[in-house]
Amino acid sequence: MNENWWKESVVYQIYPRSFMDSNGDGIGDLQGIISKLDYLKKLGIDVIWLSPVYKSPNDDNGYDISDYQDIMDEFGTMADWEELLKEVHNRGMKLIMDLVVNHSSDEHPWFIEAKKSPDNPYRDYYIWRQGKDGKEPTNWYSNFGGSAWEYDEQSKQYYLHLFSKKQPDLNWRNPSLREDIYKMMKWWLDKGIDGFRMDVINFISKPDVFVDGEPKEGKKYASGSPFYRNGPHIHDYLQEMNEKVLSQYDVMTVGEMPGVTPELAQLYTAEDRKELNMVFQFEHMGLDNGPNGKWDLKPLNLVDLKANLTKWQKALEQQGWNSLYFNNHDQPRSVTRFGNDKEYRKESAKMLATVLHMMKGTPYVYQGEELGMTNIQYPTIDDYKDIEILNFYREMKAEGVPEAEIMASIYAKGRDNSRTPMQWNREKNGGFTTGTPWMKVNPNYVDINAEEALNDENSVYYYYQKLIQLRKTHEVILHGDYELLHEEHPDLFVYKRILNEETLLVICNFAELEVFFDCPVELKNRNSELLITNYESKNTDLSSTMNLAPYEAKVFLVK
Ligand code: NOJ
Repeated sequence: MNENWWKESVVYQIYPRSFMDSNGDGIGDLQGIISKLDYLKKLGIDVIWLSPVYKSPNDDNGYDISDYQDIMDEFGTMADWEELLKEVHNRGMKLIMDLVVNHSSDEHPWFIEAKKSPDNPYRDYYIWRQGKDGKEPTNWYSNFGGSAWEYDEQSKQYYLHLFSKKQPDLNWRNPSLREDIYKMMKWWLDKGIDGFRMDVINFISKPDVFVDGEPKEGKKYASGSPFYRNGPHIHDYLQEMNEKVLSQYDVMTVGEMPGVTPELAQLYTAEDRKELNMVFQFEHMGLDNGPNGKWDLKPLNLVDLKANLTKWQKALEQQGWNSLYFNNHDQPRSVTRFGNDKEYRKESAKMLATVLHMMKGTPYVYQGEELGMTNIQYPTIDDYKDIEILNFYREMKAEGVPEAEIMASIYAKGRDNSRTPMQWNREKNGGFTTGTPWMKVNPNYVDINAEEALNDENSVYYYYQKLIQLRKTHEVILHGDYELLHEEHPDLFVYKRILNEETLLVICNFAELEVFFDCPVELKNRNSELLITNYESKNTDLSSTMNLAPYEAKVFLVK
């Protein structure tokens, strides 16, 4: 691999709490992950991204860190982590860690100090403000509901928390804070990790002055996101981090960036600007949001999805780099969301993977996606664990929204959809734990599980394996130019990738019906090879009209 190994890699995200439990306490752990590394190697992935495994009171499942340089008790010890890194490297894979430095836990020693008094040396590691007219300093809401400010009785000031009140935002204006973070990053890099996924990293530069947002009708709080996303010093901080830390190692970085536009992503990822390698953009994940945000359900319009992904492909074609994803621990399962998780579960899971994996960029696979795992519908709120879901439920109840309406939103968009335990086999709890799982396993584990997939040559798992192999054998998938065809077609997602004499033709049917497809004339009479399809029929004739089955996907290499 060359210096841009991360451009040629496929990343697999592990959400440790729900991956594999080795000691029967019902919570996934590091030894559990080690026991499944061969499963990942066989899939063909190159890089593992570990969601946070640091010490944490788990208000937000590890995204609230109380010690950046230690391991959460439930997950194991530092020795287990060292063993994991060694075993990952022994198999020729790489490991990237989650870097959560927009905020810490309120149980982090920095915050405990900061709270002691306004002249404590750590006070300025966080963001404190006086109230305004007996109220919060601004009317911003937190991303998990309620105000983004929490009052501190002792000092009579408020601190900012863009997420839960147990996740106070760090003050990046403070140079000592930045130095401490860089030191901590180096400590992990010196242990030999291969990079970082950076949590909401475009939130770290807060505005110079804090001003109110515009509340939606009838609402008390407003979004502050226009003020804190991509803030005034964000590029300075990332360039400083790059210069002082990242540039000294051969690592990959991906910044999670809600609200990033293609223009900004060019700035964040252009090589000569020395910031990050790639970003996670959110625009395509918002296409099925109504005007009131993610819980406001709206069907996906395929034409919008095509236009959006195409815009991103084109924007980062010459400089910068895309990350490609439909799933992660914050998103519902894509097969339920964009496909059909009943009679066409396997077909649609494979089709969605095809659309993504044949694009230019680094693909990310989220645990269980390779099995076509689906959303969950727990009968009542009591089985849910996610702080965002629980707060949303409480707020909607207080507003008098009917139960069924609230649950419909949670079923469609709740983050717990992707956090149910991995389904390894048909044994009790899907083989995830011998104890009581921290979160109930999706009952469909009896049919959908890794063991079944490994025994079925037509499984979603083997299809992902093949997509990953294709990326490694055809340069056109890595570097070909992208061109969308049939942009207004309501059911088909068709695109070309072109490199020198070779054209990759990707044809995906998003409909539950048969759809006809006519190949563009310029490709009709050339030599073509069918690289992959999710149906039995191996029709390779591009010269006449093709009849695509529900959710059919076909990829041709035309020479
Ligand atoms: C984004 C993470 O992906 C999400 O899980 C978390 O709740 C927030 N950032 C806060 O850290």
